[in-house]
Amino acid sequence: MVHKKIGIMTTGGDCSGLNTVIQRLVDGAERRKWDVIGVQDGTDGLYANPARTIELNNNVFQFASSHLAGSILSNGHAATTNFESAARAGKLAAFNKRLQKSLKDLNLDALVLIGGNGSLSLAHLYREIYSGLSLVCIPKTIDMDVPLTDKTIGFDTAVQQLVSYCDQLLLTARSHHRWFVVQTMGRDCGQLALHAGVAVAADAIVIPEIKFDIDNLIKHIKQSKRDYGIIMVAEGISVRGHSGKPAEIISRQLSAAGIANRTAFPEYTQRAGDTVATDRILAAGFADTALHAIENNETYVMTVLQNGEYKTISLDEFFAAGKQQKDPNIIGAMTSNAYVEPDDDLLHIATDMGIYIGEKRK
Ligand code: F6P
Repeated sequence: MVHKKIGIMTTGGDCSGLNTVIQRLVDGAERRKWDVIGVQDGTDGLYANPARTIELNNNVFQFASSHLAGSILSNGHAATTNFESAARAGKLAAFNKRLQKSLKDLNLDALVLIGGNGSLSLAHLYREIYSGLSLVCIPKTIDMDVPLTDKTIGFDTAVQQLVSYCDQLLLTARSHHRWFVVQTMGRDCGQLALHAGVAVAADAIVIPEIKFDIDNLIKHIKQSKRDYGIIMVAEGISVRGHSGKPAEIISRQLSAAGIANRTAFPEYTQRAGDTVATDRILAAGFADTALHAIENNETYVMTVLQNGEYKTISLDEFFAAGKQQKDPNIIGAMTSNAYVEPDDDLLHIATDMGIYIGEKRK
């Protein structure tokens, strides 16, 4: 077996499941007798001179805690030089050069970049950073907005976190005959709200991909056979003529219509929680696929799960498959995004369950 030195890095927002992927990669690499280093703090750590790294092996990695949320490698500081701040300062080219030099100095054969659609899009756009090594990406995000993969690391755990949260809310909701308007994360993608909403049998699910009508939502809640329940609202929805948190806007309108309710914001608990089994299986599948890709000297690829099959696709394919939009934080950069499709089965299931999911598919 050819000896290799590989690096692992987590970038973007964290989620549960990152440590499982890292552990499975480290374990698989050790069985191949490869050396592994972890880049700390994502691109922050790579930008540092010298890059901040730690050696990773089964002795240093706490196997027993690999199901815990967060990333043992950390994802980066907010107030530091990164793609966003470098772009703002007009120093992106120099920033990218530094990352490239750091990777060269580390003498890596391969880098496993565990990131969301922002990081994957940047890897596609600034591919020269990774020249001379094998770049293998693993998609992670609670938003599930990465094109061409059926699942991303962290999504199932985020859904479970929301479900547990709503299960608790429903108990107090019943005692007080009131509704809870729960605002989920997900940026401008409705997958998280849709999945959690179906799982808890919410009475309404409002997502950015489908227009909703407040009067019809109110009518639907008033017609419910219960006087308590969950109204799941994705953070990315916009309500014409209103600004502020969507859950608060909807809550005020429900109150004005005489529907007793409260808002609830599970916030970052969605990115935490012990990694659920399906996320651990996904982590094992993606880590195994990534290690094989490195053995085969593949580069500029990402691992995906498609109809039960684990494989790699090129970053070009990933980028071309999504809806391309301007990166809100990086001038000149584009991201490739996936959304809830109008023919998504879960939308039909939700409708059949009597859940209000909005009016017209956009
Ligand atoms: O992309 C993951 C995510 O958790 C989104 O769902 C959310 O809108 C955002 O990150 C929050 O980002 P931050 O950590 O910068 O507050």
